[in-house]
Order: sequence, then structure tokens, then C-alpha cells
Amino acid sequence: MLFDERPKTKREDLFDRENELNGLLTNIYRPLIVLSGVRRIGKTSLLLVALNESKLPFILIDARKLKDNYGWKDIYELFSQALSSSLDKIADIIRNIRGVSILGTSVELSWKGKNYVSLADLFDHLNQKRIIIAIDEAQRLRGPLSREVKEAIAHAYDYDRNLTFILTGSEVGLLYDLIGIENDKSPLYGRYFYEIKLDRFSKEKGIEFLKKGFEENKKEANESTIEEIINFFDGIPGWLTLAGNYIISGKSIEEVKEISIRIAVNEISNLIESKRNVSEIVAKRYKNTLKCISEGNNSWTKLYDCLSKRENSTLSSSTLSNILQQLENMSIIYNYDFLDPVYKEAVKRL
Ligand SMILES: Nc1ncnc2c1ncn2[C@@H]1O[C@H](COP(=O)(O)OP(=O)(O)OP(=O)(O)O)[C@@H](O)[C@H]1O
Ligand SMILES: [Mg+2]
Repeated sequence: MLFDERPKTKREDLFDRENELNGLLTNIYRPLIVLSGVRRIGKTSLLLVALNESKLPFILIDARKLKDNYGWKDIYELFSQALSSSLDKIADIIRNIRGVSILGTSVELSWKGKNYVSLADLFDHLNQKRIIIAIDEAQRLRGPLSREVKEAIAHAYDYDRNLTFILTGSEVGLLYDLIGIENDKSPLYGRYFYEIKLDRFSKEKGIEFLKKGFEENKKEANESTIEEIINFFDGIPGWLTLAGNYIISGKSIEEVKEISIRIAVNEISNLIESKRNVSEIVAKRYKNTLKCISEGNNSWTKLYDCLSKRENSTLSSSTLSNILQQLENMSIIYNYDFLDPVYKEAVKRL
């Protein structure tokens, strides 16, 4: 069902991603694959369908669960959970590793003490079998321990030929930053990875997606509703799915817009809130920059003027370029505009 609101797991439910899926499956033998794209574009869906289709055993790690200042215990818990979920496929090869205990259906990894198992050791053991290690929202691994985690992945890249790492990320610049594309000090620097950049549906494909989704639900939706959904949500599958479900439940298009803007307001407020940990001034500056962009200030000069006015002071150009770079890294904006049209509307409400 196209409008199933969970990430898709089956090929027949994945709309218009044949090329991406085939690309992923034919490259699945590589050491490192990256799936990138803005929120709600369908990264987890593509990942799950590919894992399902590949028929290979996999370990799926949801890095979104990590806090900003995660520690070893958190990382090991994440891996323990992921190993537990795939236990039936890998029990034979992890059973006798020092520092790994299997209690019923759950796996426990020792993360300290004399029985400690390092991530690199764990990867070496997993390498006895062809296994995929998928890390969803991998940019969340940035932080105090990212170097050690990357060193373990770099080690596996070089020595564990049976392992494939698939990393996904919705904050694309941060994901590149994690891998260290431009940083020759990064353990993964210079290593080739196969990348799939997920883009939104074209207008035609978006319309087809909605029509098919409504048909599957035996719901007549008139052309103008479909047109309006596409014009507002711009081919981003997650929003189209959400809109489709609400229309089916009897909401009007205006109500659907309102609901989605509120969701986006929440997400952006969280982002600004996270900047408050740095300082109140920085948080305010992010908010003002976003507001200036949503008002259509689409060049450096315009944005700089708008921000100076809002702050009642002149700011250094490096401050502004820093904020812009961060917002681009988080895939919120590109080229002085929002990547997600709903975010643009949401920022106007802040
Ligand atoms: N190609 C597709 N065909 C059908 N449904 C899709 C497709 N891509 C995404 N969806 C739907 O859109 C929603 C978001 O998809 P998914 O969770 O896979 O995206 P994501 O990029 O991982 O999002 P996030 O960044 O929030 O983690 C889900 O409801 C999913 O079922
Ligand atoms: Mg996802």
C-alpha cells in the first residue's frame, strides 16, 4: 500500500525508485554505500526494501536513538539491540566471541572491563559471513566518539571483505562531515563510497503516486485536490503519504496543510532549541536567519541586511556564513532557499 505511513519494506510498495533500488542492489558487494536525502524523502524505505531484496543477513542500527553527547555505553547498547534483532542469522558466529553474551533472544556486549570487545573485533568476527551493517541516520554518530567508530569502520573497510556498510543521512552535510570527505585526518578519508542521492518525485510522478494511493484506498480524489497537494508538498514522498492519509480520513486540504506546518514548526523549534545549548544569542541568530530566508532574502547582501536589521546591530560576515553553512549541512537550506517547502511556511510562524 503506497500510503502506508511506515517506511516501506517491500519492492511493490516502493514507488518510482527502481533505478535507486537496482543501483543499490548491484553495488551491495562494496565496502561502503551512502544513501542521502532530506527528511521524508524515503531513505529508510529504500534501505529496508534493499535489505529485504538482497536476502543477506543484516544488522540494522538506528543512530537516531543516540543523544548528542553519547558515550560507549550508548553505542554498545545500540549494537546490542541490532545484533539481538538479527540473532537468528548470526548466532553461530557471535556465540563464541569474548565479551559477547547471548541471553535468550538478547545479545549483550561488554563495553568495558577485561572482557571488553572492541567494535573492530566485533566486525572481524561478523566477517565470517557475508553481512550488511546498515546505520540509519549515521550523522548522529558525530560527537565525542566518532573517531573511534570511524576507525573501526575504516578497519573493516580494509580487512573485512564480507562486510558492507550502508549509511543513510538526512543531514547530508553532517553525514559527509562524519565520513570526512574533505578531511585528510579522518580515518575514512579518501576511501571510495557508492552514493545514492534520493530526490523528490517529479510533479508527474507525484501526481501518479497520489492517484494510485487514493485508488488503493478506494477514495475518489478530485484533480484539484491532487494538484494542490503536489503544489504545496513538492513531491516529497513522506509529506505526500501524510497528506494522502489525512485526505482519506476526511480532512480538507487546508487542514492537511495546517497539520503538516505544525509538524514542521515542531521540528524547527527543536533545531533552534538545540542551539540554545550553545547560547541564547546563537539560537536567536538561527531563528532570525531562517526568518530572513523565508521572507525571500535570496542573496548574501539581502540576507545580511535583513539579519542586521533584525538584530539591531552589524554582525561579522563569518558569523553569517557559519550559520548558512550549518543550515546547509543539516539540509534545511540550499542556495538561500528551503529544501522543504513546508519548512518555509513553518518558519514564518516562528
Ligand atoms: N518511494 C516511496 N514509495 C512509497 N512510499 C514512500 C516512498 N518513499 C517514502 N515513502 C513513504 O514516505 C514516508 C517517509 O519515508 P521514509 O521514512 O522511508 O523516509 P526517510 O527519508 O527515511 O525519512 P526520515 O528522514 O524522516 O527518516 C513513509 O511513510 C514512507 O512509507
Ligand atoms: Mg529514515
